[in-house]
Amino acid sequence: MNEIKLINAGIKDVQFGENVKVVNPVNLYGCKIGDNCFVGPFVEIQSNVVIGNNCKIQSHSFICELVEIGDNCFISHGAMFINDKFQKGGPARGDKNFWYKTKIGSNVSIGTNATILPVQICSNVIVGAGSVVTKDINVSGVYAGNPAKKIKEFPNMGVTNES
Ligand SMILES: CC(C)(COP(=O)(O)OP(=O)(O)OC[C@H]1O[C@@H](n2cnc3c(N)ncnc32)[C@H](O)[C@@H]1OP(=O)(O)O)[C@@H](O)C(=O)NCCC(=O)NCCS
Repeated sequence: MNEIKLINAGIKDVQFGENVKVVNPVNLYGCKIGDNCFVGPFVEIQSNVVIGNNCKIQSHSFICELVEIGDNCFISHGAMFINDKFQKGGPARGDKNFWYKTKIGSNVSIGTNATILPVQICSNVIVGAGSVVTKDINVSGVYAGNPAKKIKEFPNMGVTNES
């Protein structure tokens, strides 16, 4: 039987704020996670990701390098972020000249199984379940579909993601 190079998932070099709850197993490395955050099981958060305060990162989501998330955000189960658009005719294979940033504002909720390409999303936005965000979102609102389009105004009912 051939030998394999086995790398264990775990928590390495993470800067945690106060009162953070993490449910194992996770793979978190080289990132920064703010105060009062929750990280569910089977989540991967890569190097240099910055997550603000009072965020919930639900199970099975993947947050890749070059993603920044503000405060009071909710990243639902299985939400996926992308930094490599396959511009080289396939994966950039670690060539960071072909990786792009994503910046998410505050009070943003990303629905279950949504995919976020490298974009900017302003504050006070909801992204529907299963949506694919392909372009910057510069106006607060509810966005859904593939590609995600604005379907409604943001329901400003004073609800935050802190609970
Ligand atoms: C996007 C969302 C917030 C909209 O909710 P809503 O305001 O109640 O919207 P409605 O149900 O009135 O739908 C409005 C229209 O958008 C469509 N729509 C709603 N959600 C959609 C989605 N995720 N993707 C594509 N279209 C969607 C509806 O089919 C409807 O279309 P129609 O006008 O042609 O009939 C909600 O559907 C959603 O996806 N929420 C995510 C919830 C989630 O992931 N929770 C995780 C909990 S752990």
